[in-house]
Amino acid sequence: MSHRIEITTRDGQAFEFACEPEQDVLAAAAAAQITLPSQCRRGSCGACHASVAEGEYTLGAHSADALPPGDPHAVLLCCTTPRSDLRIAAPYDGTKVLLQPVAERRARIAALETIADGTRRLELRLEPDDAYGSAAEFEAGQFVELELPESGVRRPFSLANTSNWDGRLELLIRLRPDGVFSSYLREQAQVGDALTVHGPQGGFGLFAQSLGPRWFVAGGTGLAPVLSMLRRMAEYQEMNDARLFFGVNRESELFMVEELERLQGELAQLRVELCVRNAGDEGDEGAVRGRFRGTPVEALEAALGLADESPDLYVCGPPGMVSAAQAVAVAAGVPARQFSSERFTV
Ligand SMILES: Cc1cc2nc3c(=O)[nH]c(=O)nc-3n(C[C@H](O)[C@H](O)[C@H](O)COP(=O)(O)OP(=O)(O)OC[C@H]3O[C@@H](n4cnc5c(N)ncnc54)[C@H](O)[C@@H]3O)c2cc1C
Ligand code: FES
Repeated sequence: MSHRIEITTRDGQAFEFACEPEQDVLAAAAAAQITLPSQCRRGSCGACHASVAEGEYTLGAHSADALPPGDPHAVLLCCTTPRSDLRIAAPYDGTKVLLQPVAERRARIAALETIADGTRRLELRLEPDDAYGSAAEFEAGQFVELELPESGVRRPFSLANTSNWDGRLELLIRLRPDGVFSSYLREQAQVGDALTVHGPQGGFGLFAQSLGPRWFVAGGTGLAPVLSMLRRMAEYQEMNDARLFFGVNRESELFMVEELERLQGELAQLRVELCVRNAGDEGDEGAVRGRFRGTPVEALEAALGLADESPDLYVCGPPGMVSAAQAVAVAAGVPARQFSSERFTV
């Protein structure tokens, strides 16, 4: 006998569907044409986490890191099977739930440039089609999967720009040694190349209804979705107090610094702290330029110690950095509902 699942988003939208006892909740939602945020679908990235408010369930094999700490009812929907009807609270707004499968569109490379040691900026232009026209529509903070045409290899990357009518997608990509997609970008990619884009996807993004301070913590290319959110705040002239802690290992790995300065011109309340872990070490010029010497999580910890009010926290970067930020947030008493993150699992 199937069970009834009710999922309520952060902003109060409810979605209902049936789930068989052996079926995971994510797959059951998809079968009902409800696409919930997810990424790996195997319990390791944490993108599908939610909290069970009522009902019995089994949580299958998963990585402990993928679950947010401090919530005994936290689950990963891709490996949760119901043993009764379930009421579930989702940590994202209803705009992140699609009532159709993830879109699949063709795009061409419009620009590709090196913006720092080991980091490329990739600009794509979506081809107009009957279903979506020429627009690129997505929520700030979401990601797409890029598929290489010949091999069918698919990799997730966050969008750094905001929705637009002319189909532009901007991505900031860290090249991995021997990575398949990285090797394509390093050795082969050219302006005009065609790629398939699956998305937008994902639940990471601004809490639309919160008027509190917004603090962003970005490690390396974890800046991409954060930049999208800051640009969106600038477009809408949202006046929430805002701070960014952006970290890299070496001065030569910093990027988008001028763009952040430009954004500070549009968002007068935005404070930016550039964190360079090895600033001042031999061969690194950081110390003379007044960078925070350390990781963005260390900068966050110091700032939280002085804060009068718990900010909403948006954290993105390598999984270890996100876990460290989560531990700092818990220790500083930031409520779990004010913590939102995206892990760049490889
Ligand atoms: C939701 C989401 C959003 C993301 N957004 C971004 C973004 O905006 N920018 C960004 O830079 N990254 C982002 N990432 C991370 C990005 O998806 C990965 O870095 C990317 O998929 C790597 O692809 P690749 O094909 O180059 O590497 P892969 O071929 O997948 O390999 C990755 C790494 O693993 C190593 N490796 C591969 N196989 C083996 C093996 N058998 N044994 C040991 N090591 C191995 C490779 O050498 C390489 O270093 C995101 C990840 C997620 C989940
Ligand atoms: S989609 Fe469920 S943990 Fe990644």
